[in-house]
Amino acid sequence: MAMAMKRKPDPDAGAAALATPTDLKPRDVEKVAAALNGLLADAYVLYLKTKNFHWHVSGPNFRDIHVMLDEQAADILGSTDELAERVRKLGARTLRSLAEALELTGLKENNEDFVPPHDMLIELMEDNKAVAAAMRKAHKVCDEAGDIASASLIENYVDQTEKRTWFLFEMSRAAGPHGH
Ligand SMILES: [Fe+2]
Repeated sequence: MAMAMKRKPDPDAGAAALATPTDLKPRDVEKVAAALNGLLADAYVLYLKTKNFHWHVSGPNFRDIHVMLDEQAADILGSTDELAERVRKLGARTLRSLAEALELTGLKENNEDFVPPHDMLIELMEDNKAVAAAMRKAHKVCDEAGDIASASLIENYVDQTEKRTWFLFEMSRAAGPHGH
């Protein structure tokens, strides 16, 4: 009996099997998927940082900040499935791990033992501003590709992100620079 030839795994086979049909050009799909996956990576990092600060905030404004950050985290997490599935609707592959999210994100995590509440608010505000800017860039990529559905999805997220920035800004004034 002849030995069966051991087949080498074809690196393109997985991608081909997952290539949902679309009328968008393959090159455009690639660009849009990269832009959306970048936003998805940002969302996971911002989600965990927002929860991190929700869990570790301390001080006289504890309840207000704690509750606000929980609401913001829920909104951010709510965007992840839609972003990922938008990529799959185009036939491209999306994130597989948090390690990959860390490679793709433009944000930095915060592993400090203690962060004063005012610093938490300012850091999240800056992160949300950076995310809004990244979304505007991604929107341009979608526009140029003629992908109006992705562009429309992003438009809603820009609004949500700017709402978070607004609330963080106002709350940072309430918290004061010394955390009170
Ligand atoms: Fe909680």
